[in-house]
Amino acid sequence: MATINANFLKLKAGYLFPEIGRRVKAYTEANPDKAARIIRCGIGDVTEALPPAIVKAMHEGVDELAHRETFHGYGPEQGYEFLRQAIVDNQFADLGISADEVFISDGSKCDTGNILDIFGKGNTIAITDPVYPVYVDTNVMAGNTGDADAKGAYEGLLYLPCNAENGFVADVPTEKADLIYLCFPNNPTGSVATRAQLEAWVAYAKANDAIILFDAAYEAFIQDPEIPHSIFEIEGAKDCCIEFRSFSKNGGFTGVRCAYVVIPKTVTGKTETGERIPLHQLWSRRHSTKFNGASYPVQKAAAAVFSEEGKAQVNELIEHYMGNAKLLIEAATAAGLQVFGGKNAPYVWVGCPKGLSSWDMFDKMLQEAQVVITPGSGFGSAGEGYFRISAFNSRANVEEVCNRLKALIA
Ligand code: MLT
Repeated sequence: MATINANFLKLKAGYLFPEIGRRVKAYTEANPDKAARIIRCGIGDVTEALPPAIVKAMHEGVDELAHRETFHGYGPEQGYEFLRQAIVDNQFADLGISADEVFISDGSKCDTGNILDIFGKGNTIAITDPVYPVYVDTNVMAGNTGDADAKGAYEGLLYLPCNAENGFVADVPTEKADLIYLCFPNNPTGSVATRAQLEAWVAYAKANDAIILFDAAYEAFIQDPEIPHSIFEIEGAKDCCIEFRSFSKNGGFTGVRCAYVVIPKTVTGKTETGERIPLHQLWSRRHSTKFNGASYPVQKAAAAVFSEEGKAQVNELIEHYMGNAKLLIEAATAAGLQVFGGKNAPYVWVGCPKGLSSWDMFDKMLQEAQVVITPGSGFGSAGEGYFRISAFNSRANVEEVCNRLKALIA
């Protein structure tokens, strides 16, 4: 008899977003007359069309595949040089990162989950609370945790509470952690870490021989010029950090799929006997064994994000979504709610009206306003009492959401 990975049985019933989808479906089935009114601001999925420069490049990639002379079969597992070099030139030029330290993939969700393949057992893993659920669930699957308690916290994880007091930026802990997940701009709270806060984290990682897994999927939304976009802007980070980046939220690639991991060759982990091994070497081995590269037309399209036209068109998209975030902040504030985030991130993080839990608010918004939001508690127990509104939508939908929110709470 084939046995299973029993760690899966420790997971809470459903991944957050499918669970939201299930509830929305149940509501629409019970209230078919309301179905057309539903506006989805739950999952952070882009809504606007791919920028024309990106579409053009993808078409050209497909056309090349249509002719024997320009056809491409398997590409390099690490990604095409043209894309890795464009990434370095445009995003890491002054930071001492080279193109062979960039690994192209099909998404940051996969990358942040798969990275656990290269780490051993017994690491103390620090996770902010609230948090992007992928970091937690993949550690559960990998057997890095015990069971969840009644509040959903897994035994063995070091939770770093993020709250209004610390501006939703975790302080470095007094405990020793080996692996630390940081996400800035933050999903779900929309908070950003200052240079000084990131310096404190890098100093902590160096002092504790820890690795920071830095998820920068939302860096393109940073508006404040003082806020670092990359952890590698911090001195010493090249000794202890891995950065995850994505084309999903800037270029609108959630359905196209393309992302990358930056692993400087100077970042090392230890064997059980204390020998230091570059993580780059392990990830390279893992990537070339379990992955055959993102598709050629997709990598062509991703490279177009860095063309002059591509940059201008992506900027327009970011401005559009950040304009939405501004309206959502204003509406939630006008409704008398406590509002965080949304200034350097496409997520607005809102305190629930007094007396309502996160799921109460989810149900109220769905049933009384036909707006889908994400309950804060779905991101961890410290998210209880909050809800997240995604700014990824059309302007008309966001304006309508603002009106409905104000009418609902007034
Ligand atoms: C979210 O809504 O938190 C994101 O869409 C999740 C993701 O990017 O995978």
